[in-house]
Amino acid sequence: MVNTAGQVIRCRAAVAWEAGKPLVIEEVEVAPPQAMEVRVKILFTSLCHTDVYFWEAKGQKPLFPRIFGHEAGGIVESVGEGVTDLRPGDHVLPVFTGECKECRHCKSEESNMCDLLRINTDRGVMLNDGKSRFSIKGQPIYHFVGTSTFSEYTVTHVGSLAKINPAAPLDKVCILSCGISTGLGATLNVAKPKKGSTVAVFGLGAVGLAAAEGARIAGASRIIGVDLISKRFEEAKKFGVTEFVNPKEHEKPVQEVIAEMTDGGVDRSVECTGSINAMVSAFECVHDGWGVAVLVGVPNKDDAFKTHPMNLLNERTLKGTFFGNYKPRSDLPSVVEKYMNKELELEKFITHEVPFAEINKAFEYMLKGEGLRCIIRMDA
Ligand SMILES: NC(=O)c1ccc[n+]([C@@H]2O[C@H](COP(=O)([O-])OP(=O)(O)OC[C@H]3O[C@@H](n4cnc5c(N)ncnc54)[C@H](O)[C@@H]3O)[C@@H](O)[C@H]2O)c1
Ligand SMILES: [Zn+2]
Ligand SMILES: [Zn+2]
Repeated sequence: MVNTAGQVIRCRAAVAWEAGKPLVIEEVEVAPPQAMEVRVKILFTSLCHTDVYFWEAKGQKPLFPRIFGHEAGGIVESVGEGVTDLRPGDHVLPVFTGECKECRHCKSEESNMCDLLRINTDRGVMLNDGKSRFSIKGQPIYHFVGTSTFSEYTVTHVGSLAKINPAAPLDKVCILSCGISTGLGATLNVAKPKKGSTVAVFGLGAVGLAAAEGARIAGASRIIGVDLISKRFEEAKKFGVTEFVNPKEHEKPVQEVIAEMTDGGVDRSVECTGSINAMVSAFECVHDGWGVAVLVGVPNKDDAFKTHPMNLLNERTLKGTFFGNYKPRSDLPSVVEKYMNKELELEKFITHEVPFAEINKAFEYMLKGEGLRCIIRMDA
């Protein structure tokens, strides 16, 4: 292999020039990593809703031209000054929210909300010098959430990379960079259902199905899926969902339907919809005395959560989570191991695969609501 350390690399990247317009595969220049930065060769990336939201830029601050992408697997090409725990050749998963290991959040056992590297969707440049490492003939191209994985090479802060087992297949574990870990961790780290318990999952998209997978791994005996789209149940069965409720098919509120099905309520519920109505139902459907509800979905700007305080006094607990409470560098390697020892199944999340040159197809699948995860192969 040619040694490219310290040099500008020219490679292909999928550039979003304008909101909502198809990405264009361009030759870009990728500058070498600066202090505390790492340049990574991306081998596989996948598409998540967050990429699509910010590409559409409806309601978000538009920042273009930009290189999107935040679920990926790659190999370290070179490291900048001060980087001691990664070396060229290491296998890594870039993560949209980092772990600096120095701040109060990183030092707290209870938090993964790093002060330095917490998700920032408005910043399109690197922290070190406030500039981009991507350019086309001298014109800077913005980064996205510190990862920009729709490029054959990218530069990230060292704190945004989880070093993983090099034996793990990157075309599978790349989906652990965002949505799947979020849902899985919401159940395993926050809801923590006991073996034999009953768990309700609101929203059976990729995140909700990962929450269901967590409940299956935890040994839940009943997993009740709730979605407005009834056909989602068929697919959800593969993820351990045993029963299904469509709120639209009932006259009474879904929390009452679930209370009747479960003799007073579920032990745990995980909300993965982003709908404020589902959030309230997810809370009110847990059993009094011990029930715990976990909110994962991102609500609309003006939403407010309304419930009678008696619901809390009756010993129900309401929690929320960010990235499934996983600390990316400290905890993701062990999630990869769960896949390696066959506890966690990832193949069933991967419904499509496209070569990099056809990345716009992945956007089409997501916009049509087709499938769960589309793997984009960078070598094709
Ligand atoms: N907290 C975090 O760290 C984090 C990370 C990633 C994603 N998310 C959020 O998780 C949510 C789910 O993501 P996804 O990619 O699986 O989305 P998705 O759109 O694929 O799935 C959402 C599902 O919820 C269903 N739904 C919508 N309203 C509903 C309602 N009122 N009752 C029941 N079901 C309803 C939809 O039919 C759909 O099947 C999103 O809000 C996303 O922004 C949060
Ligand atoms: Zn930190
Ligand atoms: Zn994501």
